[in-house]
Amino acid sequence: MHSSMQKVARLADLPETRGTRVKIGETPILLVREANTVHAYTADCPHAGAPLEKGGICNRRIICPWHKGTFEISDGSLVEPPALKGLTRYDALVDGGDVYVSPEPVESQARSRGADESTMFIAGAGAAGAAACAALREAGFDGRIVLAGKDAPMPYDRTALSKFVVAGDMPADEIPPLLDPSFFTDQNIERIESEAVRLDAATRQVELANGTVIDYNAALVCTGGLPKPMDVPGAKLPHVHILRNRDDAVAIVATLDTAKRAVIVGASFIGLEVASCLRKRKIDTTVISPDKVPFAKQFGERIGEMFMRLHEKNGVSFRMTRNVKAIEANEVELDNGERIPADVVIVGTGVKPATSFVSGITLADDGGIDVDAGMRAAPGLYAAGDIARFPLPRSDSKLRIEHWRVAQQHARVAAFNMAGASREYDGVPYFWTYHFERRFDYLGHTSEPDYVVIDGDLDTQQFIAYLMKDGKVGAVVACEREDETARLAEAMREPLTVEAAREVANM
Ligand SMILES: Cc1cc2nc3c(=O)[nH]c(=O)nc-3n(C[C@H](O)[C@H](O)[C@H](O)COP(=O)(O)OP(=O)(O)OC[C@H]3O[C@@H](n4cnc5c(N)ncnc54)[C@H](O)[C@@H]3O)c2cc1C
Ligand code: FES
Repeated sequence: MHSSMQKVARLADLPETRGTRVKIGETPILLVREANTVHAYTADCPHAGAPLEKGGICNRRIICPWHKGTFEISDGSLVEPPALKGLTRYDALVDGGDVYVSPEPVESQARSRGADESTMFIAGAGAAGAAACAALREAGFDGRIVLAGKDAPMPYDRTALSKFVVAGDMPADEIPPLLDPSFFTDQNIERIESEAVRLDAATRQVELANGTVIDYNAALVCTGGLPKPMDVPGAKLPHVHILRNRDDAVAIVATLDTAKRAVIVGASFIGLEVASCLRKRKIDTTVISPDKVPFAKQFGERIGEMFMRLHEKNGVSFRMTRNVKAIEANEVELDNGERIPADVVIVGTGVKPATSFVSGITLADDGGIDVDAGMRAAPGLYAAGDIARFPLPRSDSKLRIEHWRVAQQHARVAAFNMAGASREYDGVPYFWTYHFERRFDYLGHTSEPDYVVIDGDLDTQQFIAYLMKDGKVGAVVACEREDETARLAEAMREPLTVEAAREVANM
C-alpha cells in the first residue's frame, strides 16, 4: 500500500447497491463496492455536479440521479451522456476490512496526436456537436476536427433557457458551457463561428457562410431545429417571441420587467416550462393549445391532467382545444372570438429540422435525415440529434426524438463510427422537464400507451408511472424518484414487464 493512502471506510459498512460518499480533505470521493473490491471516483457528476451516491448502480454501471449520465464501475469511463467525460479515478484497496484511498487522482494517459491526416467536419455546435468533439478524441481520432456553429462561440446548455434564464434565476451569459473553453485548445479542435450554407454528400465538401470551403473525410450534421413560425396575422409583431437560443431568451427577459400579462402559444414542454417561469415572476399567464390535455400523446391523459392541475394550482390559465386567430399589439384573438390581453406572446409550437443546406441525399418529408443504427446517412455522412430519423432498438420504423441526451447519445455513436469503430445506437431515450421546482423524468419512448400503471401519488408529484405498450414497459414518467429512474435508465435497455421494472426500481 502507498504510504499516502488514507483509511476512509470499513468494507462491511459499504452497500453494493449504491455508492457511498466520503471525503479526503475537501475532495468528495464516491466509493463503489463490488464484493470485496472497492472502486473510488470523484463523487460529483462531471456534467452538473449531481451527488453520484444518490444515483443508481445497474449492469456494473454508475448512473447519475439528475440526468442519467452513466459510467463504467470498472474504470469510471463514460458510457452515456450528458456528461462528456468519464469520472476521475482514485486508487483504492481493501486491507484488513478497511478501505484505503489515495488522495491523488490517477493521471489519464496523454495521447500522442497528429498522425492522421483526415478531416472530420461537424455542422452545429449544440448538444450533439459538443458531444461529438469529445467523443472523436475519446475514440482515439487524432486528425483535424472542425466544428462550425452559428448561434454562439461556445456550445452551451440550452435546456437552462426555459428553466432558469426566463425565470430570472440565471443570467443568460452565465449558462454553463458544455465543454471547458480550454478543451478546444487542448484538444486542437477548430471552432468556426459561421453556418454551413452548402454541404454536398457526394463530393464530401462543405461551404460556410464566411466563404470557407472544407473538403472532409467524414461529416456529422447536427444542426437541430428551427422553430416553426406561426401563420396568423400579427405573428411578426415585436412582442411575439420564440425560444430556441440564448438571444431569444435575452429578448424575452428584456420584456418581463414591465410585462403583466403573457400568452403562451402551444402546451409543449418548452411552453409549460416558460409558463412556470412566468408565474414565478407573478405574470398573468394563459396557455393556448389545440390539444385537449397537455402531453397526453406522450404520457397519457391522467398524467397530462396532473401537469395541467399543477399549473392551474400555480395560477396558469389554459384555453385548450383552441387556436390563435390573430395577434394584436395588446391582445390575442382565439378562433372562438375570445380576446386575451397580452403584453408578451411566446410561441412554442415545435421545430423543423435545419437541414436545407444538405444536398446529395434525399431528405425525409419533414426535412429530417434518415440514418441507420450507426447514425450513417450516406458514405462519409452522419446525422445526429433533433434532425436524425433513426431506428430505436426493437422499433420497426424510424423516428426523430427531440431530447438533449438522445442527441448526445447519437453523437457518440456517430463519432466513434467516424473514427473507425462499429457502434449502433442501443441507448434508452431520456428527457427531463422542470415545472414549479419539480423535475420530471421521462425514460424510453412510446406514444399512446395501452394503459398506465402508477405507483405513488400523482397529486403530490411523488410517483413513478409505467406506460405500458404490448405488455411491456414502453416508457416511464416519474417525479422525485431519482435513484429508481437512474437504475431503470440502464435496465430498460432490455424490454421489461411491469413486475421486472418495479423490481429494478425498488432494489
Ligand atoms: C428552451 C429549450 C429547452 C429544452 N429543454 C430540454 C430539456 O429539459 N430536456 C431535454 O431533453 N431536451 C430539452 N430541449 C431539447 C434539446 O435542447 C434538443 O433536443 C437538443 O438541443 C438537440 O440537440 P442538437 O445537437 O440536435 O441541436 P441543438 O442543440 O439545437 O444544436 C444545433 C446547433 O446547430 C446550429 N445550426 C443550425 N443550422 C446550422 C448550420 N447550417 N450550420 C452550422 N450550425 C447550424 C444551431 O444554431 C445550434 O447551435 C430543450 C430545447 C429548448 C429550445
Ligand atoms: S448532473 Fe449528472 S448527468 Fe447531469
